[in-house]
Amino acid sequence: MENLKISRLQVQNFRNLYPQMVEFGPGINCIVGKNGNGKTNLLEAIYFLSTKRSFRKKTGFPQLLSIDGEKPEIIISSIFKDSENNSISLSAKLENKGSSWFLAGKLIKRKPPIKVVFINPFDSYNFHQSGSSRRYFFDTHIGQLDDVYRSLMARYNNLLKQRNTLLSKKPGMYREQIEAIDVNMARYNFEITQKRLEFIKNLGPHLGAIFKELFSLDHSLEITLTNKFIGLNQDQIYQLMRENMAEDERLGHSKIGIHRDDYIIFFDGINSLDYCSLGQQKITYLSLLFAYIDLFRYKFNTYPIVLIDDVSGELDEMRWKRLVSYLKRGNFQVLITTANENFKQELEKIEDSTEITVQGGLMINQNLRSNV
Ligand SMILES: Nc1ncnc2c1ncn2[C@@H]1O[C@H](COP(=O)(O)OP(=O)(O)OP(=O)(O)O)[C@@H](O)[C@H]1O
Ligand SMILES: [Mg+2]
Repeated sequence: MENLKISRLQVQNFRNLYPQMVEFGPGINCIVGKNGNGKTNLLEAIYFLSTKRSFRKKTGFPQLLSIDGEKPEIIISSIFKDSENNSISLSAKLENKGSSWFLAGKLIKRKPPIKVVFINPFDSYNFHQSGSSRRYFFDTHIGQLDDVYRSLMARYNNLLKQRNTLLSKKPGMYREQIEAIDVNMARYNFEITQKRLEFIKNLGPHLGAIFKELFSLDHSLEITLTNKFIGLNQDQIYQLMRENMAEDERLGHSKIGIHRDDYIIFFDGINSLDYCSLGQQKITYLSLLFAYIDLFRYKFNTYPIVLIDDVSGELDEMRWKRLVSYLKRGNFQVLITTANENFKQELEKIEDSTEITVQGGLMINQNLRSNV
């Protein structure tokens, strides 16, 4: 089954949402309502169901469980449809002791086969503020395109943990064990670097095009990776790690490696971190995400479901009109929330859009619109 889009959703005991059925259209779904009514909670339920985690930090069952819940159990049930209109059910049951996912009624251990991308304004701020947020952004997105990357990262992080534990002990005591770890780490450093470089190389043309189309014709946007191993082969990386060993022992942790990489976004040739206004940072961030979505489609010949949580703040009228017309042209399912009346009116003009009003956790499907 390909190109899965969410068609129906029903939750029980999930935050403030009522246990009623919500229906989604295959194109643009506009989720409207005033602040604090449950719009983001609705996106969170879909994200959690699809990825087994929340987009909010440090959020699990205790935070998701409704404070008014009758029993300590959350159920999220849904129907997805593919491009031939075949239905498949996906549901999750969350309890204190653990969670289970069911696809077409069968228990599944792996992640559900649903790809979603979540976009929100706070992430744009974090992305520009911290290197670890940038790494997280790229790791998540490269990992969604490439299973091998995910497994390389898991193995690398595992070895890094072991290596740092040994380094934190008496200097020199575990040198042999560390040398053995480094043989494998050098390999992962090499392979992960290649994959990161490949990703930004592939993203580049999409990014340039989207940035121009979405926001402006007058600026350029480019990404570079800062990494000590670019241009080195596996042996040379191993050598460099050995040369740094004394310093690592002194510090008690691993100073070089892909865990210290960073990405620099150049806006008109200048580091966007030092140069961009908040609005420009948000535009840069959105362009990156839409470029990723484009790359995703190019690779899998299908789009992820795009969840957009109120991005209208800080974008001027011209920019969000462009965003709306871009969404209109795209052939993907979008769930976009807003508390902004003007943005809502702009979204309502889109043909065949679906409107869901959220009020005190109650989700009301407005008429399915066509040719408004
Ligand atoms: N575990 C929970 N149980 C019950 N209600 C909860 C729980 N967690 C959060 N809420 C409620 O959910 C509401 C927030 O919902 P949400 O973040 O979805 O609002 P929103 O519609 O996105 O608002 P905004 O426009 O401000 O972003 C708050 O009123 C909060 O009290
Ligand atoms: Mg919200």
